[in-house]
Amino acid sequence: MSLPASDLTKQADHLTTMDLGAVLPATAEVREGHLFIGGVDMVELAREQGTALYVFDEADIRGRLATYRENFQSRYANSEIIYASKAFINKEMVRIVAAEGASLDVSGGGELAIALAAGFPAERVYVHGNNKTPQELEEAISAGVGRIVLDSRLELARVSEIAQRLGVVQDVYMRITPGVEADTHEYIKTGCEDSKFGFTMREDFAFNCVGDVLAAPGVNLVGLHCHIGSQIFALHSFAEAVEIMVEFIARIKERYGLEITELDIGGGVGIAYTVQDQPATIEQFAEVATEALLGSCEVHGVNPPKLLTEPGRSIVATAGVTLYTVGILKTLPGIRKYVAIDGGMSDNIRTALYHAAYEAVIANKADQPRTEIVTLAGKHCESGDAVVLDGSIQTPELGDIVCVFDTGAYCRSMSSNYNGQPRPAVVFVKDGTARVVTRRETYNDLMTCDI
Ligand code: LLP
Repeated sequence: MSLPASDLTKQADHLTTMDLGAVLPATAEVREGHLFIGGVDMVELAREQGTALYVFDEADIRGRLATYRENFQSRYANSEIIYASKAFINKEMVRIVAAEGASLDVSGGGELAIALAAGFPAERVYVHGNNKTPQELEEAISAGVGRIVLDSRLELARVSEIAQRLGVVQDVYMRITPGVEADTHEYIKTGCEDSKFGFTMREDFAFNCVGDVLAAPGVNLVGLHCHIGSQIFALHSFAEAVEIMVEFIARIKERYGLEITELDIGGGVGIAYTVQDQPATIEQFAEVATEALLGSCEVHGVNPPKLLTEPGRSIVATAGVTLYTVGILKTLPGIRKYVAIDGGMSDNIRTALYHAAYEAVIANKADQPRTEIVTLAGKHCESGDAVVLDGSIQTPELGDIVCVFDTGAYCRSMSSNYNGQPRPAVVFVKDGTARVVTRRETYNDLMTCDI
């Protein structure tokens, strides 16, 4: 697939790096024309570690985990933050989540294996997925995970059978699709009615299935879950979902006499990928979610359950940047200006997949205004391979180090080895120190599984 036609009337925005505001990681600064993050010079780091390179601002990650924790707990003490590890996971990230007192959402056996290998307490793990394999379920139950989020009646039967065989009673949630239309990209919208996820509320299907869960041996229904989508700006969508779920909890109490004590409302708020984006803050999200919970519990006369939320993107997206080296410049007059970098859809598929927008700067010209409009093209054999489409950037030259912001979520976790590209290393920076926390893949890594 080729790129959408370039908008030739678009003007460069003349912003310099620090004008990018909320798009930047918490510790971003410019010193003598170079971009620094975590007190580390990104130009030097690129030279030492090579490019493409994923860099994370550790203080930013910890700060956001703390902001979620404090804003929810101060408004409603019976609340919990569960980091959605699908956004970005490696062992060091898991250790940071544990140290910051958050729980962990895993969506498959692989994420669970990483969590356990990093020493994460199994009882703080929440297991998701619309088609967890019998093997994944068995691994999760025997590891002693805290909650399994049931996605269907077929899965209920599997979990019940495995738990009985292992001689345990597994705490479970039911994932409900509340039919809320959230304001986000179609591919990442999950709560609406045509969804492969969860028990639908249509024709009271989910409600009737509660009876099946209660009747099944080996499982203990403690909570409900819903997830209405990702990169959501409209907070009222979360409030609507909470109200629907609380009404559902009230009906469960009335019909089945069961008090649901935990309500997990899924992913967190959206983030600013561009200077135009104006997402809600974590504080506003906490305010809306806790008010909706307490208000609707009062209306329906139920005891407020524990409130859980599973942010992924808003914990790691802004902390992460990707560094690249400019290798080719190609100008097609009247069509487009290409700047080719040494990565692309293998380390960031989001632009090709969703036409995601990103801001970028040249790290070695970070104090200069962005005077050009270019397409940051990747190095892969695909015309649609680009990371930034028609974005403002400083005047590019061969060898420049490009920094693309807000690539911390869903970039490494959706990366590939397309064209035999080894995955970049992951470096955490903090207080002037850079630590490689996942090493760069080698050509040998590309063949380790081959017979
Ligand atoms: N909980 C559940 C059950 C989820 O499915 C997700 C995301 C989250 C939590 C975390 O949501 P967040 O806080 O990150 O919005 N690949 C797409 C995003 C897919 C999100 C899938 N589920 C992207 O690159 O934008």
